[in-house]
Amino acid sequence: MENPNYSYGFKSQNNECSDVKLKITGAIPGWLQGTLIRTAPSKFEVGRDKYKHWFDGLAMLHKFEIKDQEATYSCKFLESEVYKKALKKGRIAHGEFGTDPCRDLFQKVFSFFKGPTPTDNGCVNIIKYGEEVTSCTETPNPKIFDLDTLETRGNYRFEDKLRGQLTPVHPHMDNEGNIYSYLTEIAYKSFYHIYEAPADSKERRLIASIPTKEFAYIHSFGMTENYVVFLENPLVATPLEFRFKDKPFIEKFKWKEDRGTIIHLVHKNSGEVSTIKTDAFFCFHHANAFEQDGEIVFDLITYEDASIVSFLYLDELRANNPSLAAGQLWRYTISTFDNTIEKKLLTELPVELPRTNYESINTKPYQYVYAAANLEPGNFLDALAKIDVNTGAETIWQEEGCYPGEPVFVPRPSGASEDDGVILSVVLNARKGTSFLLILNAQNLQELARTEVPQHITFGFHGQFFALNS
Ligand SMILES: [Fe+2]
Repeated sequence: MENPNYSYGFKSQNNECSDVKLKITGAIPGWLQGTLIRTAPSKFEVGRDKYKHWFDGLAMLHKFEIKDQEATYSCKFLESEVYKKALKKGRIAHGEFGTDPCRDLFQKVFSFFKGPTPTDNGCVNIIKYGEEVTSCTETPNPKIFDLDTLETRGNYRFEDKLRGQLTPVHPHMDNEGNIYSYLTEIAYKSFYHIYEAPADSKERRLIASIPTKEFAYIHSFGMTENYVVFLENPLVATPLEFRFKDKPFIEKFKWKEDRGTIIHLVHKNSGEVSTIKTDAFFCFHHANAFEQDGEIVFDLITYEDASIVSFLYLDELRANNPSLAAGQLWRYTISTFDNTIEKKLLTELPVELPRTNYESINTKPYQYVYAAANLEPGNFLDALAKIDVNTGAETIWQEEGCYPGEPVFVPRPSGASEDDGVILSVVLNARKGTSFLLILNAQNLQELARTEVPQHITFGFHGQFFALNS
């Protein structure tokens, strides 16, 4: 097949719009009422300056409002301090994940997480804290925005003494709405502070602090009923390297194969930590974790090493070269009796950006992972996949010239089964240079409807659906 230019998904989109009524093909289910909000790096140049990495671009919020089987689309830049400063100065004014704009000694303080504020360019995920909806990146500086107008309001702040410079954009939540996450505190002696943020309080409860001389780049973690499954990738740095190395954030980390991947099982109530070392691998995303018969089971997407991070530089992505865009979905099983580890490949398909029926199956045995997949080697993420983790059965959605993003599962109210619902995915049609919201039946990945957006939406990472009146 001709390889269309998916690099369109990495071309800046500067056009904001509001409540554009979308043309619909097919029929949106009547029960699907609510708002899909996604964030994505959307502006890759400021003046003559260019961001270097996909994770660097200035964030734009994208909203699909679905009501009475119709849909509207709005998009607006997140007005972070980083965004406002860049526009005011006409150049990149703050360090990001893979770009450091340092020009002189004074500007060196404005790196990814240092300076008066760490970066607040929330281009990675949408997280709801209490009643506040925020757009986040990997610093503890989430930006609150108005779900109706997409206006940026300010920062979400916890009110306690826990400190740290890095935090994941994938916290977990239990059935009572309590949030679990961690902070990496970078100091002479560094720590990972694992915490619980109660649903009704801005004061977090510290569960455990794990000391480390070298701290790891970590993007997400797993959670069972009783444990936080916290993995240290062997992509690490020391505080001294962070302070003195004149490099962008992620380039200060080194791959240390011999360190292996370190698994910490942190008991949520007692704070006890059990640590196990396994062979080195790199992971961005966990899919799910649970306890069964005295074992901790966790599913995650892994890579042999961290070269995926280098592949995601914009020059590489725009080159349309054969590329590595997805990893392998593995199941790890650890015995809580003797810490032995077993692993099993759940699918041969290269996949990324996994989602599940989170509200129903989080911390429980489950059946389905939905993910973006790469079917044609080198063709970026060119399909959506549903994986039955018990049987390995795969269901695929694919369309020539189309590049889908993260599949967000939305359950049908009072749904009868784990996969009773729809998948929402923003897809780039590279042949037309525009994007559409694809709505699939989650049971068979058959198309129910698509809504055409009159412009392209840059490739992003994550988003959330907020059901009307939920
Ligand atoms: Fe992520």
